[in-house]
Amino acid sequence: MKRKLIAGNWKMNGNAAANESLVRAVLAGMGDAACTVAVCVPAPYLAQVQALRAGTALELGAQDVSEHAQGAYTGEVSADMLREFGVRYVIVGHSERRQYHAESDAVVAEKVKAALAAGITPIVCVGETLAQREEGRTSAIVKRQMAAVIHTNGHCISEIAVAYEPVWAIGTGRTATPEQAQEVHAVLRAQLKAATEHADRVLILYGGSMNAANAVSLLAQPDIDGGLIGGASLKAPDFLQIIAAAR
Ligand code: PGA
Repeated sequence: MKRKLIAGNWKMNGNAAANESLVRAVLAGMGDAACTVAVCVPAPYLAQVQALRAGTALELGAQDVSEHAQGAYTGEVSADMLREFGVRYVIVGHSERRQYHAESDAVVAEKVKAALAAGITPIVCVGETLAQREEGRTSAIVKRQMAAVIHTNGHCISEIAVAYEPVWAIGTGRTATPEQAQEVHAVLRAQLKAATEHADRVLILYGGSMNAANAVSLLAQPDIDGGLIGGASLKAPDFLQIIAAAR
């Protein structure tokens, strides 16, 4: 059995005091978790959370990375900079970045490459909007998003993690059913299999209103290898229940 990954995506939430109590509560409750646990925190708090998690099994993640290595890119953060703060995972191509920051499939693919070059595992987000689902284009959309990443990263593709996040389920309280999610995860797995003989080791997470109540049935699906958790990762008891469901 593959070890599942439960990654919290704090988005643009938190402050020094709140972060400290949240991380302490997660650490106190996670014990000997059967899954890998990570929190993807806003960049200014990487150092704080790096110190809080030192010597524990809690992994540190970031929410974005520049596709460039260095230079005149005001406001950007490079993969090497993330690496210096002990970052092991970085979310790439979240739908909020695709939507509000106009990140194209090509840019997402370059960011994945930058993360991999620094030894950081990119959590590549793909997902369809409600309109695209209703038009029956879900598979085509996620395959197009993934194809760009595969094309740019070649055989390194087995080193990524993927998060299927239907846009209509993010922060809405509307979750894909386990069957809906599994169907898309299977499409992604098949696409990865065509690109690498190691596709089975790629973790494909589900994200979008995952919570303590629906986590067990989602995580029971054969191709769901974990979760990318937004809102519920900000409340330690909820996040801990999802962690406990991932075995
Ligand atoms: P949510 O967010 O759990 O709040 O729906 C998930 C995500 O956007 O990664």
